[in-house]
Amino acid sequence: MDLRLFIDKLEKLEELVLVKGADWNLEIGTLTELFDENQDKALLFDEIKGYPRGFRVLTNAIATPKRLAATFGFPDDISKIELVRRLKTFFLELKPIPPVHVKSGPVMENIFRDEEVDLLKFPTPLWHELDGGRYLGTGDMVIMRDPEGKWVNTGTYRVQLHDRDTLGLYISPGHQGRLIREAYWAQGKPCPVAIVFGAHPLVWMPSFLAFPWGTEEFTIAGALLGEPLQLITGEYTGLPIPAYAEIAIEGEVLPPEVEMREEGPFGEWPGYYGSGERKEPVVKVKRIMHRNDPIIMGSPPLKPPSSGNCSYIMRAGNIWYELEKLGIPGIKGVWNMRAGGSRFLNVIAIEQKYAGHAKQVGMAAMSGAEGAYHGRFVIVVDDDIDPTDDNDVLWAVATRCDPATSIEIIHQCWSTPLDPTIPPERKAKGDFTNSRAIILATRPFYWRKEFPKVNKASKELRETTLKKYASLFTKK
Ligand SMILES: Cc1cc2nc3c(=O)[nH]c(=O)nc-3n(C[C@H](O)[C@H](O)[C@H](O)COP(=O)(O)O)c2cc1C
Repeated sequence: MDLRLFIDKLEKLEELVLVKGADWNLEIGTLTELFDENQDKALLFDEIKGYPRGFRVLTNAIATPKRLAATFGFPDDISKIELVRRLKTFFLELKPIPPVHVKSGPVMENIFRDEEVDLLKFPTPLWHELDGGRYLGTGDMVIMRDPEGKWVNTGTYRVQLHDRDTLGLYISPGHQGRLIREAYWAQGKPCPVAIVFGAHPLVWMPSFLAFPWGTEEFTIAGALLGEPLQLITGEYTGLPIPAYAEIAIEGEVLPPEVEMREEGPFGEWPGYYGSGERKEPVVKVKRIMHRNDPIIMGSPPLKPPSSGNCSYIMRAGNIWYELEKLGIPGIKGVWNMRAGGSRFLNVIAIEQKYAGHAKQVGMAAMSGAEGAYHGRFVIVVDDDIDPTDDNDVLWAVATRCDPATSIEIIHQCWSTPLDPTIPPERKAKGDFTNSRAIILATRPFYWRKEFPKVNKASKELRETTLKKYASLFTKK
Protein backbone atom coordinates (compact mmCIF):
# COMPACT_ATOMS: atom_id res chain seq x y z
CA MET A 1 0.00 0.00 0.00
CA ASP A 2 3.06 2.20 -0.16
CA LEU A 3 3.52 4.16 -3.40
CA ARG A 4 7.28 4.15 -2.82
CA LEU A 5 7.45 0.36 -3.04
CA PHE A 6 5.58 0.60 -6.32
CA ILE A 7 8.12 3.14 -7.56
CA ASP A 8 10.93 0.74 -6.56
CA LYS A 9 9.18 -1.94 -8.61
CA LEU A 10 9.00 0.37 -11.65
CA GLU A 11 12.72 1.08 -11.26
CA LYS A 12 13.58 -2.61 -11.13
CA LEU A 13 11.53 -3.21 -14.26
CA GLU A 14 13.35 -0.29 -15.92
CA GLU A 15 9.98 1.36 -16.42
CA LEU A 16 10.78 4.68 -14.74
CA VAL A 17 12.66 7.79 -15.80
CA LEU A 18 13.82 10.36 -13.26
CA VAL A 19 13.55 13.91 -14.60
CA LYS A 20 15.37 16.63 -12.69
CA GLY A 21 14.85 20.36 -12.99
CA ALA A 22 11.60 20.42 -15.01
CA ASP A 23 9.31 23.43 -14.68
CA TRP A 24 5.86 22.99 -13.09
CA ASN A 25 4.77 25.50 -15.70
CA LEU A 26 3.78 23.25 -18.66
CA GLU A 27 6.99 21.19 -18.85
CA ILE A 28 5.76 18.40 -16.55
CA GLY A 29 2.45 18.30 -18.43
CA THR A 30 3.98 18.26 -21.90
CA LEU A 31 6.56 15.58 -21.05
CA THR A 32 3.75 13.50 -19.57
CA GLU A 33 1.79 13.86 -22.83
CA LEU A 34 4.77 12.96 -25.02
CA PHE A 35 5.67 9.89 -22.95
CA ASP A 36 2.06 8.72 -22.84
CA GLU A 37 1.73 9.16 -26.60
CA ASN A 38 4.66 6.81 -27.17
CA GLN A 39 3.51 4.41 -24.44
CA ASP A 40 6.91 5.08 -22.92
CA LYS A 41 8.11 4.93 -19.31
CA ALA A 42 6.62 6.41 -16.16
CA LEU A 43 8.09 9.77 -15.09
CA LEU A 44 9.24 10.85 -11.67
CA PHE A 45 9.95 14.59 -11.51
CA ASP A 46 12.31 15.88 -8.82
CA GLU A 47 14.08 19.21 -8.16
CA ILE A 48 11.12 20.91 -9.79
CA LYS A 49 11.91 24.51 -10.59
CA GLY A 50 11.36 26.70 -7.55
CA TYR A 51 10.63 23.81 -5.15
CA PRO A 52 12.75 21.89 -2.69
CA ARG A 53 14.45 18.71 -3.80
CA GLY A 54 12.37 15.68 -2.76
CA PHE A 55 8.99 17.34 -3.44
CA ARG A 56 8.14 15.15 -6.43
CA VAL A 57 5.48 14.46 -9.05
CA LEU A 58 4.89 10.98 -10.53
CA THR A 59 3.08 10.68 -13.87
CA ASN A 60 2.07 7.86 -16.25
CA ALA A 61 2.51 5.43 -13.35
CA ILE A 62 0.22 2.77 -14.84
CA ALA A 63 -0.13 4.16 -18.35
CA THR A 64 0.80 1.00 -20.29
CA PRO A 65 -0.75 -2.49 -20.24
CA LYS A 66 2.66 -3.79 -19.14
CA ARG A 67 2.79 -1.53 -16.08
CA LEU A 68 -0.86 -2.20 -15.29
CA ALA A 69 -0.14 -5.94 -15.45
CA ALA A 70 2.87 -5.43 -13.15
CA THR A 71 0.64 -3.58 -10.68
CA PHE A 72 -1.52 -6.69 -10.35
CA GLY A 73 1.37 -9.14 -10.56
CA PHE A 74 0.16 -10.51 -13.91
CA PRO A 75 2.75 -11.73 -16.49
CA ASP A 76 4.14 -8.79 -18.48
CA ASP A 77 3.45 -10.45 -21.85
CA ILE A 78 -0.24 -10.93 -21.03
CA SER A 79 -2.54 -10.12 -23.95
CA LYS A 80 -4.79 -7.09 -23.62
CA ILE A 81 -7.98 -9.15 -23.67
CA GLU A 82 -6.60 -11.56 -21.06
CA LEU A 83 -5.78 -8.56 -18.85
CA VAL A 84 -9.38 -7.36 -19.12
CA ARG A 85 -10.68 -10.90 -18.53
CA ARG A 86 -8.65 -11.23 -15.34
CA LEU A 87 -9.91 -7.89 -14.05
CA LYS A 88 -13.48 -9.01 -14.75
CA THR A 89 -12.89 -12.29 -12.94
CA PHE A 90 -11.31 -10.44 -10.03
CA PHE A 91 -14.43 -8.27 -9.65
CA LEU A 92 -16.75 -11.29 -10.00
CA GLU A 93 -14.92 -13.23 -7.32
CA LEU A 94 -14.20 -10.20 -5.18
CA LYS A 95 -14.16 -10.74 -1.46
CA PRO A 96 -14.01 -7.25 0.04
CA ILE A 97 -11.38 -6.88 2.77
CA PRO A 98 -12.36 -4.29 5.38
CA PRO A 99 -9.69 -1.72 6.28
CA VAL A 100 -7.99 -1.51 9.68
CA HIS A 101 -7.61 1.69 11.67
CA VAL A 102 -4.12 2.48 12.93
CA LYS A 103 -2.99 5.22 15.30
CA SER A 104 -0.31 6.66 13.09
CA GLY A 105 1.27 6.33 9.67
CA PRO A 106 3.87 7.90 7.37
CA VAL A 107 1.34 10.52 6.17
CA MET A 108 1.53 12.05 9.67
CA GLU A 109 5.27 12.81 9.41
CA ASN A 110 4.42 16.47 8.83
CA ILE A 111 1.19 18.09 10.02
CA PHE A 112 0.11 21.69 9.48
CA ARG A 113 -2.95 23.14 11.17
CA ASP A 114 -5.15 26.17 10.49
CA GLU A 115 -2.90 29.24 9.91
CA GLU A 116 0.08 26.97 9.17
CA VAL A 117 -1.74 25.55 6.14
CA ASP A 118 0.04 26.48 2.92
CA LEU A 119 -0.85 24.52 -0.19
CA LEU A 120 1.55 26.61 -2.26
CA LYS A 121 4.46 24.58 -0.89
CA PHE A 122 3.69 21.72 -3.32
CA PRO A 123 5.01 21.77 -6.91
CA THR A 124 1.58 21.85 -8.49
CA PRO A 125 1.75 21.63 -12.29
CA LEU A 126 0.09 23.81 -14.88
CA TRP A 127 -0.71 20.83 -17.09
CA HIS A 128 -2.02 22.22 -20.40
CA GLU A 129 -1.48 25.57 -22.13
CA LEU A 130 -5.07 26.83 -21.91
CA ASP A 131 -5.72 25.72 -18.34
CA GLY A 132 -7.12 28.43 -16.12
CA GLY A 133 -5.01 27.38 -13.14
CA ARG A 134 -2.74 24.80 -11.56
CA TYR A 135 -4.20 21.42 -10.60
CA LEU A 136 -2.91 19.67 -7.51
CA GLY A 137 -5.53 16.94 -7.83
CA THR A 138 -5.56 14.83 -10.98
CA GLY A 139 -4.56 11.35 -9.76
CA ASP A 140 -6.21 12.02 -6.41
CA MET A 141 -8.76 10.43 -4.11
CA VAL A 142 -11.55 12.51 -2.58
CA ILE A 143 -12.93 10.95 0.60
CA MET A 144 -16.41 11.75 1.96
CA ARG A 145 -18.77 10.03 4.36
CA ASP A 146 -22.46 9.95 3.53
CA PRO A 147 -24.27 12.24 5.99
CA GLU A 148 -26.07 9.33 7.65
CA GLY A 149 -22.64 7.97 8.53
CA LYS A 150 -23.27 4.63 6.88
CA TRP A 151 -20.47 4.47 4.33
CA VAL A 152 -17.45 6.28 2.93
CA ASN A 153 -17.07 7.09 -0.75
CA THR A 154 -13.87 7.76 -2.63
CA GLY A 155 -13.78 9.46 -6.03
CA THR A 156 -11.13 10.85 -8.35
CA TYR A 157 -12.28 14.41 -9.00
CA ARG A 158 -10.06 17.22 -10.19
CA VAL A 159 -8.77 19.73 -7.66
CA GLN A 160 -7.62 23.22 -8.60
CA LEU A 161 -5.20 25.16 -6.45
CA HIS A 162 -6.75 28.56 -5.65
CA ASP A 163 -4.59 29.85 -2.79
CA ARG A 164 -2.82 28.88 0.45
CA ASP A 165 -5.87 27.23 1.99
CA THR A 166 -8.47 27.07 -0.78
CA LEU A 167 -9.02 24.41 -3.43
CA GLY A 168 -11.58 24.14 -6.23
CA LEU A 169 -13.35 20.78 -6.48
CA TYR A 170 -15.06 19.84 -9.73
CA ILE A 171 -17.46 16.89 -9.51
CA SER A 172 -19.73 16.08 -12.44
CA PRO A 173 -23.51 15.93 -11.85
CA GLY A 174 -24.63 12.52 -10.65
CA HIS A 175 -21.28 11.44 -9.29
CA GLN A 176 -21.47 10.02 -5.80
CA GLY A 177 -19.25 12.63 -4.16
CA ARG A 178 -21.51 15.32 -5.59
CA LEU A 179 -24.66 13.67 -4.23
CA ILE A 180 -23.01 13.34 -0.81
CA ARG A 181 -21.92 16.97 -0.57
CA GLU A 182 -25.39 18.10 -1.71
CA ALA A 183 -26.91 16.05 1.10
CA TYR A 184 -24.79 17.96 3.68
CA TRP A 185 -25.69 21.30 2.11
CA ALA A 186 -29.39 20.38 2.19
CA GLN A 187 -28.98 20.18 5.97
CA GLY A 188 -27.32 23.62 5.94
CA LYS A 189 -23.89 22.14 6.76
CA PRO A 190 -20.54 22.22 4.97
CA CYS A 191 -19.37 18.82 3.72
CA PRO A 192 -16.36 17.34 5.54
CA VAL A 193 -13.74 16.11 3.07
CA ALA A 194 -10.29 14.57 2.99
CA ILE A 195 -8.27 14.46 -0.23
CA VAL A 196 -5.25 12.27 -0.92
CA PHE A 197 -2.79 13.48 -3.56
CA GLY A 198 -0.58 10.42 -3.89
CA ALA A 199 -1.35 6.79 -3.18
CA HIS A 200 -0.33 3.33 -4.33
CA PRO A 201 -2.17 2.57 -7.62
CA LEU A 202 -4.10 -0.30 -6.03
CA VAL A 203 -5.35 2.05 -3.33
CA TRP A 204 -6.16 4.76 -5.88
CA MET A 205 -7.89 2.65 -8.57
CA PRO A 206 -11.24 1.98 -6.86
CA SER A 207 -11.75 5.72 -6.58
CA PHE A 208 -11.84 6.20 -10.36
CA LEU A 209 -13.93 3.13 -11.09
CA ALA A 210 -17.69 3.25 -10.67
CA PHE A 211 -19.29 0.99 -8.11
CA PRO A 212 -22.93 0.99 -6.99
CA TRP A 213 -24.06 3.61 -4.50
CA GLY A 214 -23.08 2.59 -0.99
CA THR A 215 -19.99 0.57 -1.98
CA GLU A 216 -17.09 0.98 0.45
CA GLU A 217 -14.22 1.44 -1.99
CA PHE A 218 -11.62 1.01 0.76
CA THR A 219 -12.77 -2.62 1.04
CA ILE A 220 -12.11 -3.06 -2.69
CA ALA A 221 -8.65 -1.52 -2.26
CA GLY A 222 -8.08 -4.13 0.46
CA ALA A 223 -9.13 -6.91 -1.90
CA LEU A 224 -6.79 -5.58 -4.60
CA LEU A 225 -3.93 -5.39 -2.10
CA GLY A 226 -4.76 -8.76 -0.58
CA GLU A 227 -4.59 -7.25 2.91
CA PRO A 228 -6.57 -4.71 4.92
CA LEU A 229 -5.84 -1.14 3.93
CA GLN A 230 -4.39 0.79 6.88
CA LEU A 231 -6.25 3.98 7.66
CA ILE A 232 -5.64 6.76 10.14
CA THR A 233 -8.43 8.96 11.44
CA GLY A 234 -8.24 12.57 10.32
CA GLU A 235 -8.13 14.80 13.41
CA TYR A 236 -10.28 17.56 11.87
CA THR A 237 -12.98 15.60 10.03
CA GLY A 238 -12.78 12.16 11.60
CA LEU A 239 -12.59 10.78 8.05
CA PRO A 240 -10.49 7.70 7.31
CA ILE A 241 -7.28 8.47 5.40
CA PRO A 242 -4.82 5.91 3.99
CA ALA A 243 -1.87 5.81 6.42
CA TYR A 244 0.64 5.62 3.55
CA ALA A 245 -0.81 8.56 1.62
CA GLU A 246 1.91 10.88 0.37
CA ILE A 247 -0.11 14.05 0.94
CA ALA A 248 -3.57 14.42 2.46
CA ILE A 249 -5.65 17.43 3.33
CA GLU A 250 -8.72 17.77 5.49
CA GLY A 251 -11.29 20.48 5.24
CA GLU A 252 -14.83 21.34 4.26
CA VAL A 253 -16.60 21.84 0.96
CA LEU A 254 -18.53 25.05 1.58
CA PRO A 255 -22.18 25.32 0.51
CA PRO A 256 -22.49 27.28 -2.77
CA GLU A 257 -24.29 30.17 -1.05
CA VAL A 258 -21.26 30.65 1.23
CA GLU A 259 -18.55 30.63 -1.42
CA MET A 260 -17.93 29.61 -5.03
CA ARG A 261 -15.01 30.46 -7.29
CA GLU A 262 -14.26 30.28 -10.98
CA GLU A 263 -12.98 26.80 -11.80
CA GLY A 264 -11.21 25.81 -15.04
CA PRO A 265 -10.96 25.85 -17.88
CA PHE A 266 -9.10 22.56 -17.70
CA GLY A 267 -8.00 20.24 -20.51
CA GLU A 268 -10.39 17.31 -20.16
CA TRP A 269 -10.20 13.65 -21.14
CA PRO A 270 -12.33 13.85 -24.32
CA GLY A 271 -9.55 16.11 -25.63
CA TYR A 272 -11.29 19.48 -25.24
CA TYR A 273 -12.05 22.26 -22.80
CA GLY A 274 -15.66 21.11 -22.75
CA SER A 275 -16.89 22.54 -19.46
CA GLY A 276 -15.07 25.86 -19.87
CA GLU A 277 -14.87 28.11 -16.84
CA ARG A 278 -17.71 28.32 -14.35
CA LYS A 279 -18.26 28.87 -10.64
CA GLU A 280 -17.71 25.75 -8.56
CA PRO A 281 -17.64 25.00 -4.83
CA VAL A 282 -14.42 25.37 -2.87
CA VAL A 283 -12.70 23.35 -0.16
CA LYS A 284 -11.43 25.33 2.84
CA VAL A 285 -8.40 23.41 3.99
CA LYS A 286 -7.84 23.08 7.76
CA ARG A 287 -5.12 20.42 7.88
CA ILE A 288 -2.28 19.35 5.61
CA MET A 289 -0.42 16.12 6.29
CA HIS A 290 2.45 14.84 4.24
CA ARG A 291 5.30 12.39 4.25
CA ASN A 292 8.84 13.63 4.16
CA ASP A 293 9.72 14.30 0.50
CA PRO A 294 6.13 13.87 -0.68
CA ILE A 295 5.11 12.61 -4.11
CA ILE A 296 2.08 13.98 -5.98
CA MET A 297 0.37 11.39 -8.19
CA GLY A 298 -0.27 13.21 -11.48
CA SER A 299 -2.78 11.90 -13.99
CA PRO A 300 -3.73 14.82 -16.22
CA PRO A 301 -6.48 14.21 -18.76
CA LEU A 302 -4.93 14.07 -22.24
CA LYS A 303 -6.45 14.01 -25.72
CA PRO A 304 -7.27 10.44 -26.84
CA PRO A 305 -5.75 8.07 -27.70
CA SER A 306 -4.12 8.84 -24.37
CA SER A 307 -4.13 5.95 -21.96
CA GLY A 308 -5.67 7.82 -19.00
CA ASN A 309 -3.39 5.67 -16.84
CA CYS A 310 -5.02 2.62 -18.42
CA SER A 311 -8.44 3.60 -17.12
CA TYR A 312 -9.76 2.43 -20.54
CA ILE A 313 -8.66 -1.10 -19.62
CA MET A 314 -9.94 -0.95 -16.04
CA ARG A 315 -13.34 0.30 -17.21
CA ALA A 316 -13.56 -2.46 -19.81
CA GLY A 317 -12.98 -5.00 -17.02
CA ASN A 318 -15.65 -3.38 -14.87
CA ILE A 319 -18.23 -3.31 -17.72
CA TRP A 320 -17.55 -6.98 -18.52
CA TYR A 321 -18.09 -7.73 -14.83
CA GLU A 322 -21.36 -5.76 -14.84
CA LEU A 323 -22.67 -7.71 -17.86
CA GLU A 324 -21.83 -11.09 -16.32
CA LYS A 325 -23.22 -10.03 -12.96
CA LEU A 326 -26.53 -9.48 -14.75
CA GLY A 327 -26.34 -13.08 -15.88
CA ILE A 328 -26.12 -12.27 -19.59
CA PRO A 329 -24.56 -15.26 -21.36
CA GLY A 330 -22.05 -15.35 -24.21
CA ILE A 331 -19.87 -12.34 -23.38
CA LYS A 332 -16.49 -13.07 -24.95
CA GLY A 333 -14.65 -9.80 -24.57
CA VAL A 334 -15.01 -6.12 -23.67
CA TRP A 335 -12.80 -3.28 -24.76
CA ASN A 336 -12.63 0.50 -25.08
CA MET A 337 -11.12 1.73 -28.34
CA ARG A 338 -8.45 4.21 -27.32
CA ALA A 339 -9.57 6.79 -29.88
CA GLY A 340 -12.69 7.14 -27.75
CA GLY A 341 -10.81 7.52 -24.47
CA SER A 342 -12.06 5.27 -21.72
CA ARG A 343 -15.76 5.82 -22.41
CA PHE A 344 -16.87 6.84 -25.91
CA LEU A 345 -16.26 3.68 -27.95
CA ASN A 346 -17.13 0.58 -25.94
CA VAL A 347 -16.84 -2.73 -27.79
CA ILE A 348 -18.49 -5.93 -26.63
CA ALA A 349 -17.81 -9.24 -28.39
CA ILE A 350 -20.49 -11.90 -27.97
CA GLU A 351 -21.36 -15.38 -29.04
CA GLN A 352 -24.94 -14.74 -30.17
CA LYS A 353 -27.25 -17.22 -28.54
CA TYR A 354 -30.75 -15.94 -29.30
CA ALA A 355 -32.59 -13.26 -31.27
CA GLY A 356 -32.32 -9.94 -29.42
CA HIS A 357 -29.21 -11.00 -27.49
CA ALA A 358 -26.95 -8.41 -29.16
CA LYS A 359 -29.37 -5.54 -28.44
CA GLN A 360 -29.75 -6.70 -24.84
CA VAL A 361 -25.96 -6.58 -24.43
CA GLY A 362 -25.78 -3.12 -25.98
CA MET A 363 -28.44 -1.72 -23.66
CA ALA A 364 -27.02 -3.40 -20.57
CA ALA A 365 -23.48 -2.15 -21.31
CA MET A 366 -24.71 1.42 -21.03
CA SER A 367 -26.78 0.93 -17.93
CA GLY A 368 -24.52 -0.28 -15.12
CA ALA A 369 -22.61 1.90 -12.65
CA GLU A 370 -19.54 1.91 -14.93
CA GLY A 371 -21.21 1.98 -18.32
CA ALA A 372 -23.94 4.54 -17.69
CA TYR A 373 -21.95 7.75 -17.29
CA HIS A 374 -20.69 9.88 -20.18
CA GLY A 375 -20.77 7.24 -22.93
CA ARG A 376 -21.42 7.62 -26.66
CA PHE A 377 -21.16 4.47 -28.81
CA VAL A 378 -21.53 0.84 -27.79
CA ILE A 379 -20.46 -1.48 -30.58
CA VAL A 380 -21.54 -5.11 -30.34
CA VAL A 381 -19.53 -7.55 -32.47
CA ASP A 382 -19.50 -11.31 -33.01
CA ASP A 383 -16.91 -13.43 -31.28
CA ASP A 384 -14.82 -13.95 -34.44
CA ILE A 385 -13.89 -10.26 -34.03
CA ASP A 386 -11.03 -9.32 -31.71
CA PRO A 387 -12.48 -6.40 -29.72
CA THR A 388 -8.97 -5.09 -28.96
CA ASP A 389 -8.14 -4.81 -32.68
CA ASP A 390 -9.54 -1.48 -33.94
CA ASN A 391 -9.34 -2.53 -37.59
CA ASP A 392 -11.21 -5.75 -36.93
CA VAL A 393 -13.92 -3.84 -35.05
CA LEU A 394 -14.27 -1.19 -37.75
CA TRP A 395 -14.37 -3.93 -40.40
CA ALA A 396 -17.29 -5.49 -38.52
CA VAL A 397 -19.04 -2.10 -38.35
CA ALA A 398 -18.38 -1.52 -42.05
CA THR A 399 -19.62 -4.92 -43.19
CA ARG A 400 -22.15 -6.27 -40.68
CA CYS A 401 -24.00 -3.14 -39.59
CA ASP A 402 -26.91 -2.03 -41.77
CA PRO A 403 -27.24 1.64 -40.74
CA ALA A 404 -30.99 1.71 -41.37
CA THR A 405 -31.75 -1.22 -39.08
CA SER A 406 -28.72 -1.89 -36.86
CA ILE A 407 -28.18 1.41 -35.06
CA GLU A 408 -30.34 2.30 -32.07
CA ILE A 409 -30.30 5.88 -30.82
CA ILE A 410 -31.18 6.52 -27.20
CA HIS A 411 -31.83 10.07 -26.07
CA GLN A 412 -31.35 12.01 -22.81
CA CYS A 413 -28.70 9.83 -21.21
CA TRP A 414 -26.43 10.70 -18.28
CA SER A 415 -23.57 12.89 -19.48
CA THR A 416 -21.64 15.83 -18.08
CA PRO A 417 -20.66 19.45 -18.78
CA LEU A 418 -17.39 18.00 -20.14
CA ASP A 419 -19.29 16.61 -23.14
CA PRO A 420 -18.12 18.62 -26.17
CA THR A 421 -21.29 17.88 -28.18
CA ILE A 422 -23.78 19.50 -25.82
CA PRO A 423 -24.55 22.98 -27.21
CA PRO A 424 -23.93 26.02 -24.97
CA GLU A 425 -27.63 26.86 -24.61
CA ARG A 426 -28.43 23.40 -23.22
CA LYS A 427 -25.44 23.56 -20.89
CA ALA A 428 -26.64 26.97 -19.68
CA LYS A 429 -29.98 25.41 -18.73
CA GLY A 430 -28.26 22.61 -16.84
CA ASP A 431 -29.21 19.99 -19.43
CA PHE A 432 -26.13 17.77 -19.43
CA THR A 433 -27.70 14.82 -21.23
CA ASN A 434 -26.52 13.31 -24.49
CA SER A 435 -27.59 10.62 -26.89
CA ARG A 436 -26.07 7.19 -27.31
CA ALA A 437 -25.87 4.81 -30.21
CA ILE A 438 -25.86 1.05 -29.97
CA ILE A 439 -24.21 -0.20 -33.13
CA LEU A 440 -25.03 -3.81 -33.85
CA ALA A 441 -22.07 -4.93 -35.94
CA THR A 442 -23.12 -8.54 -35.59
CA ARG A 443 -24.45 -10.91 -38.23
CA PRO A 444 -28.28 -10.69 -38.00
CA PHE A 445 -29.22 -13.57 -35.73
CA TYR A 446 -32.01 -15.20 -37.71
CA TRP A 447 -30.01 -15.52 -40.96
CA ARG A 448 -26.53 -15.64 -39.46
CA LYS A 449 -25.88 -19.06 -40.97
CA GLU A 450 -26.57 -17.76 -44.50
CA PHE A 451 -24.52 -14.59 -43.93
CA PRO A 452 -21.74 -14.54 -46.58
CA LYS A 453 -18.65 -16.46 -45.53
CA VAL A 454 -15.42 -14.62 -44.71
CA ASN A 455 -12.79 -14.94 -47.46
CA LYS A 456 -9.70 -15.09 -45.22
CA ALA A 457 -7.52 -18.23 -45.34
CA SER A 458 -8.38 -20.61 -42.51
CA LYS A 459 -6.09 -20.87 -39.49
CA GLU A 460 -4.95 -24.33 -40.54
CA LEU A 461 -4.21 -23.28 -44.14
CA ARG A 462 -2.28 -20.25 -42.95
CA GLU A 463 -0.24 -22.36 -40.54
CA THR A 464 0.72 -25.05 -43.04
CA THR A 465 1.54 -22.40 -45.67
CA LEU A 466 3.63 -20.43 -43.21
CA LYS A 467 5.47 -23.58 -42.21
CA LYS A 468 6.18 -24.62 -45.79
CA TYR A 469 7.34 -21.15 -46.84
CA ALA A 470 8.95 -20.12 -43.55
CA SER A 471 12.08 -18.87 -45.30
CA LEU A 472 10.02 -16.24 -47.13
CA PHE A 473 9.00 -14.76 -43.81
CA THR A 474 12.30 -14.74 -41.94
CA LYS A 475 13.66 -11.25 -41.56
CA LYS A 476 16.89 -10.67 -43.48
C1 LIG B 1 -7.58 10.76 -13.78
C2 LIG B 1 -9.06 10.90 -13.59
C3 LIG B 1 -9.61 12.15 -13.35
C4 LIG B 1 -10.99 12.31 -13.15
N1 LIG B 1 -11.50 13.55 -12.91
C5 LIG B 1 -12.82 13.69 -12.63
C6 LIG B 1 -13.35 14.97 -12.27
O1 LIG B 1 -12.66 15.97 -12.24
N2 LIG B 1 -14.66 15.05 -11.93
C7 LIG B 1 -15.50 13.96 -11.98
O2 LIG B 1 -16.67 14.09 -11.66
N3 LIG B 1 -15.01 12.73 -12.36
C8 LIG B 1 -13.71 12.57 -12.66
N4 LIG B 1 -13.21 11.34 -13.00
C9 LIG B 1 -14.13 10.20 -13.12
C10 LIG B 1 -14.52 9.64 -11.78
O3 LIG B 1 -13.42 9.46 -10.93
C11 LIG B 1 -15.22 8.29 -11.94
O4 LIG B 1 -16.34 8.46 -12.78
C12 LIG B 1 -15.62 7.66 -10.63
O5 LIG B 1 -16.34 6.48 -10.86
C13 LIG B 1 -16.44 8.60 -9.80
O6 LIG B 1 -16.61 8.06 -8.52
P1 LIG B 1 -18.07 7.98 -7.86
O7 LIG B 1 -18.82 6.95 -8.68
O8 LIG B 1 -17.77 7.50 -6.47
O9 LIG B 1 -18.64 9.33 -7.92
C14 LIG B 1 -11.84 11.17 -13.21
C15 LIG B 1 -11.27 9.92 -13.46
C16 LIG B 1 -9.90 9.77 -13.66
C17 LIG B 1 -9.33 8.41 -13.94
